[in-house]
Amino acid sequence: MTTAADYTEKIPNNVSLHEDRRLQRALESWQPNFLTWWDSMGPTLPTRDVYLRTAINVGRDGWAQFGHVPMRDYRWGIFLAERDPGRMIGFGEHKGEPAWDKVPGEYRSDLRRLIVIQGDTEPASVEQQRNLGTTAPSLYDLRNLFQVNVEEGRHLWAMVYLLQAYFGRDGREEAEELLRRSSGSLESPRILGAFNEETPDWLSFYMFTYFTDRDGKYQLGTLKESAFDPLSRTCEFMLKEEAHHMMVGTTGIDRVVERTAQVMVENDTDDVDGLGVVSLPVIQKYLNFHYSVSLDLFGGDTSTNVANYYTAGLKGRWLEDRRRDDHKLTSDAIMVDALTEDGEIGQNEVAALIGLNTDLRREYIADCQSGVNRWNKILADAGLPQRVALPHVAFNRKVGSFSAIEASPDGEKLSPEEWEQRKGAWLPTDVDKTYVRSLMQPVYERGKIAAWIAPPRHGINGKPFDYDYVHLS
Ligand SMILES: [Fe+2]
Ligand SMILES: [Fe+2]
Repeated sequence: MTTAADYTEKIPNNVSLHEDRRLQRALESWQPNFLTWWDSMGPTLPTRDVYLRTAINVGRDGWAQFGHVPMRDYRWGIFLAERDPGRMIGFGEHKGEPAWDKVPGEYRSDLRRLIVIQGDTEPASVEQQRNLGTTAPSLYDLRNLFQVNVEEGRHLWAMVYLLQAYFGRDGREEAEELLRRSSGSLESPRILGAFNEETPDWLSFYMFTYFTDRDGKYQLGTLKESAFDPLSRTCEFMLKEEAHHMMVGTTGIDRVVERTAQVMVENDTDDVDGLGVVSLPVIQKYLNFHYSVSLDLFGGDTSTNVANYYTAGLKGRWLEDRRRDDHKLTSDAIMVDALTEDGEIGQNEVAALIGLNTDLRREYIADCQSGVNRWNKILADAGLPQRVALPHVAFNRKVGSFSAIEASPDGEKLSPEEWEQRKGAWLPTDVDKTYVRSLMQPVYERGKIAAWIAPPRHGINGKPFDYDYVHLS
């Protein structure tokens, strides 16, 4: 049961917006505020048009169309995945009951909170990435950046729709707040730490789309399980778009590693910092940083809030229906990261419900490892002995049990003094960042690419690499 997307309306949608005049008016009055936000906080590089994918439907036979569009005219719309009228709640104390079309009163504030936290990350990343266009390594990359940006904007729409449609006046206020907070702001920062960090260069951008967008994928995966059906369907559709963001990160880092390996082999040296590419140790430092701040996004190792969300049916586990247990977890246990009694790095057994953040973080870590394996294969194929690795979970943590201590990437506990002395070997220093930034000279010529990164293997939507993906103005 899907309603075809209506593009004749101001706000493209497949939720029959025209049948609810009140909601339609509320969203139409939010729309100019969104555009003001986009104009002031969105991409700074002036462009005429960009070869963009626009979501047009949710069905099996093609859900997007491609074409050159001025970014400001992108049709940000509201799309929910197809409704399954027989959908049952898959976990928690309401397991087996029909999914909810409305928000139950007792879960209203928790659901609103979950939607606001997810919604807050979407515009944040656009803000973090706004200046990257001025240093794009190619038109292909520039196009991908803008694709990610417009879709994060659409994800904001997705969350604002839920707030306005299901949460009345509180929801409308939250929708305004989502445009008022801004990444890195001292007065009203974004809610989560990683979304207040800068994304100052393209290596950071690829790391962000690999590690931090991937956190988003896992969060959306848990919300997709929600008993609140509109939230579930919204997240299911967002995950489709998210796959492209993952691809940008994965292949972006592939290409940086590939180019670095090439220059190492050609010059028979590890010391390539003066040769116009990023050295492997610096790539490793960027990886260490983005991975550790992304681990923090999963919250504390134990959480009674998350246990309650699960029991209530608001937020499930990653791939809930593939888990072979009772989907209630009332008598299960899990080992979570913890400090031992004498303050050493260790683990602790807790009730499975309390450890759900840990469960999700572990799914995420396993997925992150697959990227590391790819990059190491690129190094191996180039005949190089060096490898990159994920740092230990205790490394550089600001959230959870290990935030109380310092640890090396190998998981060795360090005194605060030792950490201060040695952290420059593990996290990007000002010198590293300045060097990486010095490489970021824009390349806007069709078919050309910056010297620090290899070209992609494939273009977008079957187009070649030298396609005119972006027209600058
Ligand atoms: Fe998103
Ligand atoms: Fe994303």
